[in-house]
Amino acid sequence: MSAGTRPSVLISGAAGGIGRATAARFAREGWLVGVYDLDAAGAERTAAELGEGDAIGGSLDVTRPDDWARVLAEFTRASGGRLDLLINNAGILRSGRLADVPIAAHHLTIDVNVKGVINGCHAAYPYLKATAGSGVINLCSASAIYGQAEIASYSASKFAVRGLTEALELEWRKEGIRVQAVWPLWVNTGLLDGAEASSLDTLGVNLTVDDVAEAIYAAARPSGVRGLLGKALPRKVHTAVGLPAKTLATAADLVPSFISREVNRRITRS
Ligand SMILES: NC(=O)c1ccc[n+]([C@@H]2O[C@H](COP(=O)([O-])OP(=O)(O)OC[C@H]3O[C@@H](n4cnc5c(N)ncnc54)[C@H](O)[C@@H]3O)[C@@H](O)[C@H]2O)c1
Repeated sequence: MSAGTRPSVLISGAAGGIGRATAARFAREGWLVGVYDLDAAGAERTAAELGEGDAIGGSLDVTRPDDWARVLAEFTRASGGRLDLLINNAGILRSGRLADVPIAAHHLTIDVNVKGVINGCHAAYPYLKATAGSGVINLCSASAIYGQAEIASYSASKFAVRGLTEALELEWRKEGIRVQAVWPLWVNTGLLDGAEASSLDTLGVNLTVDDVAEAIYAAARPSGVRGLLGKALPRKVHTAVGLPAKTLATAADLVPSFISREVNRRITRS
């Protein structure tokens, strides 16, 4: 397919982990994929594996608005101007009790996980607006259901992603840009290298990158379910991935907050 005739997706943090698996999932469906990462060599390697003409890759530091402007211009040149989907996937995690982790590491978590997503949405907006039926999917986390001890700033950053997703879903709906978040629990990726948090031991790592990639791909597709008037029902704003995350998210909506606190106190052995 030539540029402009097929859908295009730009994924941040796509050199490895969930981003890389998601890039492969969309490429398999014939999308043009933008693979961008702080690890430029890794991004280029992933793009080359997906195939010349099917993916382009390069460097992106999501904390830098200038990088976003450059990458979006480069990617939309290759896509014939289209940006059907932005996936804000880049993220970092530093575990440990808040006071034991250097303050610079907390600040970097907020810079990448929160400001990085705001930067991406801000820079991509004109391209999304110009592309009919476009959308944004943000990588949130089950740690945005209830604040998680030992990963406090990471958990707080994902609460911010949750809030940003909900706000933009409302703000951009009249312009036809849908905004969604996908919420995995623990997944075995480089993010967990050296991570030590009680919830990791309590809940275990039960998801693969392909499980999450599949959930992201499914969230991006039209629901196919029609309401009473025959109109397609809107896509869900939030998608929890895997049974434990779905159970925790549903329970948090149903039980009083003191029970949620007690469940999370036990999960984090606090
Ligand atoms: N692994 C999990 O258990 C888990 C669970 C829930 C949510 N998530 C979220 O999924 C997303 C992907 O995580 P992952 O598990 O694949 O981790 P990962 O460490 O395997 O991949 C993250 C990627 O982001 C890149 N990155 C880091 N800082 C960046 C920056 N400033 N600019 C651009 N790229 C940058 C890294 O180089 C890396 O390639 C993250 O947002 C993470 O919070 C992960």
